[in-house]
Order: sequence, then structure tokens, then C-alpha cells
Amino acid sequence: SSAMKGGYPNYMLKEIHEQPEALRSTIIPRVREGNLPDLSKDGIPHNILDNVNRIIITACGTAMHAGLIGRVMFERLLRIPVTVEIASEFRYQNPIMDKNTLVITISQSGETADTLAALRLAKAGNAKTLSIVNVKGSSIARESDYVLYTHAGPEIAVASTKAYTCQLSCLYLLAFAFALEKGRLSEEDCSKEMENLLQIIPAIEKTLTFHSLAEDISRNLKDCEDLFFIGRGLDYALSCEGSIKLKEISYIHSEAYAAGELKHGTLSLVTEGTPVIALATQANVYSKMISNIREVRARGAMVILITNGSDLIDSSICDYHFALPYLAGDFAPFTAAIVLQMLAYYTSVGRGLDVDQPRNLAKSVTVE
Ligand code: G6P
Repeated sequence: SSAMKGGYPNYMLKEIHEQPEALRSTIIPRVREGNLPDLSKDGIPHNILDNVNRIIITACGTAMHAGLIGRVMFERLLRIPVTVEIASEFRYQNPIMDKNTLVITISQSGETADTLAALRLAKAGNAKTLSIVNVKGSSIARESDYVLYTHAGPEIAVASTKAYTCQLSCLYLLAFAFALEKGRLSEEDCSKEMENLLQIIPAIEKTLTFHSLAEDISRNLKDCEDLFFIGRGLDYALSCEGSIKLKEISYIHSEAYAAGELKHGTLSLVTEGTPVIALATQANVYSKMISNIREVRARGAMVILITNGSDLIDSSICDYHFALPYLAGDFAPFTAAIVLQMLAYYTSVGRGLDVDQPRNLAKSVTVE
């Protein structure tokens, strides 16, 4: 009913706009005095990483894409090897794990059959298990040793939006809490990271005001056959999510490509007018990204550039530019995710499709 949609035309738009509040509810209860992360109220022991020499993140769909971001953050801050496994693959590959492995499962519903089976396998393999789940008391939450809930509230639209950004925030909280415990971040540096994490909330509010730009651009996307998302590092992980979001609800084919890998194949698909959504929020690979954008530009691509702040050395390299509110540290995935959600949303609406209920897809998949 329209009352349940709070005045929005559909759930997806409502849920996109609920992100500042959802993130506030997820992050704030986990901040203690001195702006330090505190997971004790969640029952997560501070020394959970003792003896852990390996982390495996397993999930499906969008939750798995959140895991890809988590891996980058964990490895950067903890220097512990992390792999991300699609739950339906993990189950059947006789995974290597033992009591020194931490398996993190991520699930909005907490009921995805493959993710639940992956969790049971992890327990049978003596791994420690921690889940990031949105639905209280769901099967995955009940069966995990530890749970860190996302407080996104009910998510109705099939395409996940607020659950995804809340999953990211939980992964960042874990990374900071672990890094503090392991002495890899000083209290001072950790509290700086936490302050920066809190800055994502006003930054997302600001990013949501770019909806008319997203809507304008979507008019140029809605009739294309396929398009590309490119990025490096965290931006590549986010590209995977941007691409699935668009495919799910607009039925336009797209591919996420690590920007440096384009020239090893996919560049042959870029021709006059091919839309390329280029994520360039990562300072350490910014100039590399710019040369990758020049490569697609030279083949006639229509470039939609997303940067952290107004970092643009050459405005002739793009047709459209989202200059995200500048965020210090590694937090641009939060704001860039909002842009990708809005592009997918307006493209779907522009094509006259049912954004909340895309064909053939279900919100929660309890079959294997
Ligand atoms: C379904 C949904 C996806 C979701 C995936 C995992 O396929 O359509 O949007 O990402 O399941 O769901 P979960 O509830 O485990 O996060």
C-alpha cells in the first residue's frame, strides 16, 4: 500500500532514502566513549581473532559483494588473508578450514539456503562463525556463534540497497574493532577512522540530492544494450554491486571490470556511445584509473565518472561527473553505492519496469 511506502512510489526508492537512518541505527550503538568501536553489547568477544590465521567470507548476491569490500578492508588493516566465496560454490569445494579459521556469513534475510548450508559446513569444519544478518532471530543468526545485526529495518524491494550499505558498515566496524584489538591501529588512529565512518551519514544525505543528475543520465542508459562498470580496488568490488543492481531491475546487460583488465579482452566491446560508469574514488590508483578512462574514451565510450570530492584533472575525459562529498579514508564506497543505486533505479523506472519485483527473482531464496 502507498501508506507503507511512506509517500514514495515504490519500496526501492523509500529504502534508498532510508539509508542515513539505517546506517545511524547500525553504527551508533557500536560506538563507545572516545569514539572507539565496541561490539561487546553484541556479545562479540574482543579477542575473537586470537589464533585466527585466516578469514573466509561467504554469502550470495549483493551480500557477497559486500564481502568483497570487507576483504579489502580486513586485509588492509589486519594483514590476515581473507577470501570471499560464493556460498553455493564454497559448499561443494571441500573448503580448507579449522579452528583457526573465522568464517563470516553475510545475509539480509538470514534464510538463504546456500548461505545457511555454508555456515553449517563451517561449523562442521570447526571454524569460528560470525554472521552479519538483518532479520532478527533468522536461521543464520540463530546458528552462528556470533551475530552482528544490521539495523536496516525491513527491506522489501528485491534489489538490496540499505541492507547492503549497512552490511558494509558492519564490516568496517569489525575491521576497526579487530585492528584495535590486534594493535594494528592505535586508539587515536582508530577513533579517527570511527569519526570518518560517522561522516558517511551526512555525506550520503548530500549524495541523495544528486538524484536529478542520476535521472538525467538514466535517459541515456535506458535504451542501451549493455554497458560497463570499471574501477580498481574497493571501486572494483563496488562495480560488481553496481552491475548486478542495474541488471536485476533494468534488464540491461552490464559487466563489472577491473579497470586494468579491460585491455585484456573487454575493450573490444567498447564502441561509439557505449556507456562506461567509471569509479575513481581510490587515491592510490587514481592516475591509473584516468589512463583507463582515456582508453575507453578513445573508443568513443560515453563516460560517467564518479570521484571522491571534485578530484578531476581533466574534464574532457567524461560526459557526466558525480563529484561525491569528499570523505577522508576508505569510505567512498558508501557514497558511490548510492549513486549506483540511483542510476539503476531511474533506468528501471525509465523503462517502465516494476522496480520492486523484477521478473524471475525472489527477495529470499530458500531453495538450493
Ligand atoms: C536473493 C536476492 C538478492 C540477495 C540474495 C542474498 O537472490 O534477490 O538481492 O542479495 O538473495 O540474500 P540474503 O538474504 O542472503 O542477503
